[in-house]
Amino acid sequence: MKRKGIISILFIFLVVLAGCSAGKVKLPAQSEVTDKVLKDVFAEHGMKVGTCISANVTQKEATSNLMVAQFNSCTMENAMKPDYILDQAQSKAAGKPVVKFNKEAISLMGWAKKNGFSMRGHTMIWHSQTPDWIFRKDFAINGDYVDREEMLARMEALISGVFEELKTLGYIDLFYAYDVVNEAWMEDGSMRASNWRTIIGDDYLWYAFYYADKYAPESIDLYYNDYNEQYKADCIAEFVKTLKDDDGRSLIDGIGLQAHLFTADDVTTYLEGVDILAETGLKLELTEVDVGLGKYQGALVNTDTNLKTQGRYCYELFQGLFERADAGKIRMDAVTFWGFSDGFSWRREYSPQLYDSDLDPKYALYGVMQIKEHAGYDPAE
Ligand code: GLA
Repeated sequence: MKRKGIISILFIFLVVLAGCSAGKVKLPAQSEVTDKVLKDVFAEHGMKVGTCISANVTQKEATSNLMVAQFNSCTMENAMKPDYILDQAQSKAAGKPVVKFNKEAISLMGWAKKNGFSMRGHTMIWHSQTPDWIFRKDFAINGDYVDREEMLARMEALISGVFEELKTLGYIDLFYAYDVVNEAWMEDGSMRASNWRTIIGDDYLWYAFYYADKYAPESIDLYYNDYNEQYKADCIAEFVKTLKDDDGRSLIDGIGLQAHLFTADDVTTYLEGVDILAETGLKLELTEVDVGLGKYQGALVNTDTNLKTQGRYCYELFQGLFERADAGKIRMDAVTFWGFSDGFSWRREYSPQLYDSDLDPKYALYGVMQIKEHAGYDPAE
């Protein structure tokens, strides 16, 4: 490329960069707007409020301080997923799946305990982020898959192993909820394909809850967790009715609604889904909330206008949830956001969180906190 071309591209880049930072409208600090923090607002409705955590955010002073000040529940973003908690060499040696939490998981539990957090466990039975060798003979990386009986035994060892390890480590009391199964249903009402299902059969879901109920302490609520829940609500509501033991007792305590939303999604439709799920009588929790700007295949730039839309979206969504909780229409112990800052979010291109990447508050934060005058509305609204 000619020198002149490079210079003009550089110039355009600098102009865009300057435009972006100059464009940021700084909102008043939380302490100027309210004497409450997030966890005070949720406590008023009988709920905890959580964020997902990783060593990346617990080990930095600024992010750790923000989380400790605002939240009182947390979920590991990755460190308790099957890929991270199963030890292949020890499983081979023992002839059954061996659960061993890694250094990150143990340090995150230590951080949570030290800072007075409660925890959600996430997750055990999932089609994704699960080692393929757990399904194969001799825990080998290739070769034949095991049969149904062997796979059920492995499922039992995995689930019992999680609770036993947490007891051994002395952290079991931190946990109040566990996502036993993640994302087993499709939007069209069919069951998602997975190795668990192929090898065991469709009743793998029943067995997952049967074993979890057998080994979990009473203090831990057992959850089914899924995304696009507003479109799967009827299907999930039917499914959870099947999770009963021989005496008709429910093996499941709650439904986790991931709530990976977009500002283009309709709040009313979402709340209708919540109402359908509430009719099951089970507890509900929003487990991974983030509200992206735009839609899945169309992220919007974080202009002040778009951020205001997000603020109003959050205001309306949480107004709907708090009203339902206060009226006893939903039983909701906690809401968990999938992060807290746009800078650390897995969906950062959609700017979906309550604080921006400088950890400054967004309209979305004040929307969730129901502080309407800072949630992105026109003064007249
Ligand atoms: C799903 C899972 C989460 C996480 C997100 C992406 O929602 O339940 O554990 O993997 O995807 O971070």
